Amino acid sequence: MPLLDVKELSVNFSTKEGVHHVLKNVDLNINKGEIVGLIGESGSGKSTLAMTVLDINSRNREMSGNISFMEERIDNLKKERMRNIRGKHIGSVPQSSMNALDPLVKIRSQFFETIKAHTDMSRQEMLSLTARSLEMVGIDPLRMNSCPYEFSGGQRQRIMIALSMLLSPELIIADEPTTALDATVQLKITTLLKDVVQQKNTSMLVISHDLHTISRICDRIYIMYAGRIVETGTRDEILNDPVHPYTQKLLASRLPLMCEPVRVKGISGTPPSTLKKYEVCEFMERCDKVSDICRTVRPPECTGNVKVACHMECHLE
Ligand SMILES: Nc1ncnc2c1ncn2[C@@H]1O[C@H](COP(=O)(O)OP(=O)(O)O)[C@@H](O)[C@H]1O
Ligand SMILES: [Mg+2]
Repeated sequence: MPLLDVKELSVNFSTKEGVHHVLKNVDLNINKGEIVGLIGESGSGKSTLAMTVLDINSRNREMSGNISFMEERIDNLKKERMRNIRGKHIGSVPQSSMNALDPLVKIRSQFFETIKAHTDMSRQEMLSLTARSLEMVGIDPLRMNSCPYEFSGGQRQRIMIALSMLLSPELIIADEPTTALDATVQLKITTLLKDVVQQKNTSMLVISHDLHTISRICDRIYIMYAGRIVETGTRDEILNDPVHPYTQKLLASRLPLMCEPVRVKGISGTPPSTLKKYEVCEFMERCDKVSDICRTVRPPECTGNVKVACHMECHLE
């Protein structure tokens, strides 16, 4: 059984303007030791998936489906049990987290707070765990007495990664861990994520809008569009042989690394409104391979053996 198993997950948010349909029938799983990427445009529902697994941002949320972690259903747990899982068994590097540390509180105190919430370690043990964790991400342990404002963005992201790993969780969810960093720092942070997963023998869900940066370290990738998984496969399948027109466009819009400046083709059109319920493929209006069937019949869902949610794929067989 996978370490994390998300099945038929749908999430709606009720608001004054109506019901937002944000996640639709999402199946996603992560095996022990795997790094799994979740990639899609901004607003496609990636952070909602992360937060639903972690049971945060639940105020106006309605969900259906199952979430199992280490063979236990976690989608309907008591708040206290879920708090125990968060931090101890599932570490999280939330989106924009390098700015989430309190800028004026010593790193040491912020690490101690997490340790105290889950263990009864002595002060000496807490000091040595904090030092080891900082060392692992390339931060001088002596700097545990500094405050976050004294570090660069890249260093703060390293510190957040150390904090998410502190109690050796079985799974880490890293939401846009390289966004807002410049290209060379992005490369270092992705390499660090892979190293840390290997060293700690853990698993990771890594979320990004940027297929190019993150794919390097992923074993498998899920492509999300408008709250649905539209394609899934191994890194090589997605990068070398993408089938869904959206995945193909994501790949084509990736910036070449070392070449003359080129005009990068973005994906024209805008993502669909979350307020609307779609009876057919959500990508249809932006797809240049659209055919008659797309206008009337919903494509297959990415579940079980189906790896591409597109009619074109059915026609290829
Ligand atoms: N609590 C909420 N209430 C209403 N809408 C929400 C809420 N949380 C997220 N959304 C909406 O869900 C959509 C997906 O957001 P998000 O999961 O943050 O996307 P991503 O991480 O892929 O950029 C957005 O349109 C966002 O406005
Ligand atoms: Mg997000």
